[in-house]
Amino acid sequence: ETREKVDGLIAEMTLEEKVGQMTQITLDVLGKGEDVYSSYEPFELDPEMMEKAFRTYQVGSVLNTANNRARTPEFWNELLSEIQGYAIEESGQDIPVIYGLDMIHGASYVDGATLFPQQIGMAATWNPELVRRAGEITAYETRATGVAWTFSPVLDLGVDPRWPRHWETFGEDPYLSEVLGYELVKGYEGEDNDIGNPYQIASCPKHFLGYSHTLSGRDRSPAWIPESQLREYHVPPFEGGGIDAGALTVMLNSGEINGIPFHSSKELITGLLKEEMGFEGFVLTDWQDIIYLYTRHRVAADYKDAVRMAINAGVDMSMVPYDFDFSRYLVELVNEGEVPMDRIDDAVRRILTVKVKMGLFETPYTVLDDYPEFASEAFADASRQTALESITLLKNEDNVLPLDPDISALIAGPAANTMRPLNGGWSYSWQGDLVDEFTEDYLTIYDAFSEKLGEGNVTLYETVRFDHDGAFDDEFVDDFDAFRQKAEDKDVIVLAVGENSYCEGEGDLDDLYLSDYQQKLVRVAAETGKPVVMVLAQGRPRIISKVEPLVPAIVNAYLPSNYGGEALVSLLFGESNFSGRLPYTYPRYPNKLIPYYHKHTENLELEGTPTGTQFYPQYEFGFGLSYSEFEYVSLSTDASSYGVDDIIEVTVEVQNVSDRDGKETVMLFSSQDYASITPPVKRLRDFEKIEIAAGATEEVTFRVPVSKLAFVNDNNEWIVEEGGFVLRVDGLEAPFTVTETQVVF
Ligand code: IFM
Repeated sequence: ETREKVDGLIAEMTLEEKVGQMTQITLDVLGKGEDVYSSYEPFELDPEMMEKAFRTYQVGSVLNTANNRARTPEFWNELLSEIQGYAIEESGQDIPVIYGLDMIHGASYVDGATLFPQQIGMAATWNPELVRRAGEITAYETRATGVAWTFSPVLDLGVDPRWPRHWETFGEDPYLSEVLGYELVKGYEGEDNDIGNPYQIASCPKHFLGYSHTLSGRDRSPAWIPESQLREYHVPPFEGGGIDAGALTVMLNSGEINGIPFHSSKELITGLLKEEMGFEGFVLTDWQDIIYLYTRHRVAADYKDAVRMAINAGVDMSMVPYDFDFSRYLVELVNEGEVPMDRIDDAVRRILTVKVKMGLFETPYTVLDDYPEFASEAFADASRQTALESITLLKNEDNVLPLDPDISALIAGPAANTMRPLNGGWSYSWQGDLVDEFTEDYLTIYDAFSEKLGEGNVTLYETVRFDHDGAFDDEFVDDFDAFRQKAEDKDVIVLAVGENSYCEGEGDLDDLYLSDYQQKLVRVAAETGKPVVMVLAQGRPRIISKVEPLVPAIVNAYLPSNYGGEALVSLLFGESNFSGRLPYTYPRYPNKLIPYYHKHTENLELEGTPTGTQFYPQYEFGFGLSYSEFEYVSLSTDASSYGVDDIIEVTVEVQNVSDRDGKETVMLFSSQDYASITPPVKRLRDFEKIEIAAGATEEVTFRVPVSKLAFVNDNNEWIVEEGGFVLRVDGLEAPFTVTETQVVF
């Protein structure tokens, strides 16, 4: 039925109308006034620009927020209805526009919406159910305002913490990213990807492919990734977590790989994504990425040439987003025979199919009253729980934690009394600049301590705040005398340090260490002799090796969002138990950044090399402590040798040997004794987060298909090679053999 409707529309459409469907502009273009990002004037549509966009150019898609000028759900609902009504009326076939926004941790463009920990924090929960729920709630609240499409999840791997979008990922592991990506896509789109359901929205896994691993660590700089690595590490999250989850759209990588800008690569867009991986939805560019083929990457002779390259490579919709030249050039190119008409029809078919599936033709407007759960307490609870399960205890010497509720505390650090570094990301840059005004209903870390201990027992030492652009606070001079004085009669010092929010290139760093000022603060605090709890509010692991030995307790909060302060205090005082685990390797030194699974040679103590040259991360991938203590009792497999088509049944017994109930994530790793490509020391194969009552023993059974032990060989084939393997959980090992060698995919 959908197919018939779409074909019917295409048959009636002119070339200009088709090209309009492939065009996405930013809301800025439709508004009166100059600068949509920094203006605080009320947002108003400009009739002239509306006419140009929808009557003249038949534009089919709009993106973006009006930043500070439009924050209430009612305002959005009305604004989008107005745009939608106008667009439908001007469209030759009454085709609605599809509106897209970056709702990456909740519907952050409207006040009151439920915000969740950013993706890196979601990953630290290791809890697929919570991630799906975050997607469902984001879908509900986004759709309430009339938007049916989010540019999320990020399925790029967080393999390099220098890269400024690390916090937007599910961390470094392809399997964890695949599993959680699947849940987030299903949360947005629904179990059956029924985005006609008024509580669901379309997802957009991004940024296909290899965007996160640039050589320099800078955003949008060149990446050099061999095809085997691209396939083994970067494809699985998009394939298993995105395409197999039924994701209806995909956004491309703005960068270049091996000298080829992604937006011009027919091999990767059409060949790999559409043909090999079978993606049937539509492919969207990132911001201005077609013109950049000419102005930045310099593979196109001019803008028109860039349009030819990108559309022929397989791009379906261009996030133009400011000009109408894209549309003009594309019409000309088709007329000149440079872009085939069937390429245009293919793109338009893909786009219209999503619009039909969204139910936009029947129900183009949303009625806010149909969404009574918007910003409900139940939604807030889901966010609280996600924060509680993400915050990760990294050090607890002498059981400094949990804290006693009768203590007095000094709270200091740039993240102590502001919501900004708790939410992080672009919720506080181009999606909204009023920062504290939007979040005054939520508790900062200092507020949450005050609530817990009573105001008289908590003192805030106002250090420098992060400046607007990030944690670039090293210029700050502080003699710390006041700090020492305030600490004198306190039982504990809590330092909330880390990073400010930043977005994309803004977060490019010269130095991955925690900033000098903050390290100094830790030293001064430690010198007081009081116990110090260091809380890290950060989007990526800032290196702490120089100050880590000085403090007895360290907690990684990631970017835990609006309920992060509350959740943190609940954990620090032991009302809740820690269960977060690192979704990345926490590096100890800047020269020890090891992307991807580390190899055996990283661990060897080579003659003449100091021990420090080995792979000693600060904390390993998957690390995290709890107030409970878990002991792994047994690990066994159902056989000792397997063929390639077999499934290995693995049973693990784990006991909570403490007197405190807790949650443990059982992580199953495998290693291969030897292989034709150097095998990693270990890689994650499965995991399950379970609740274990004090004193109880629980059993977990994993079913691992042998084919999943495959790796990509130097012919770029997924292969299982016969030989010895070991499965591991915690300190236990179960060896087995695989009896045959076979290419499996
Ligand atoms: O979705 C984003 C993308 O991740 C980065 N560039 C802008 C897009 C739209 O806002």
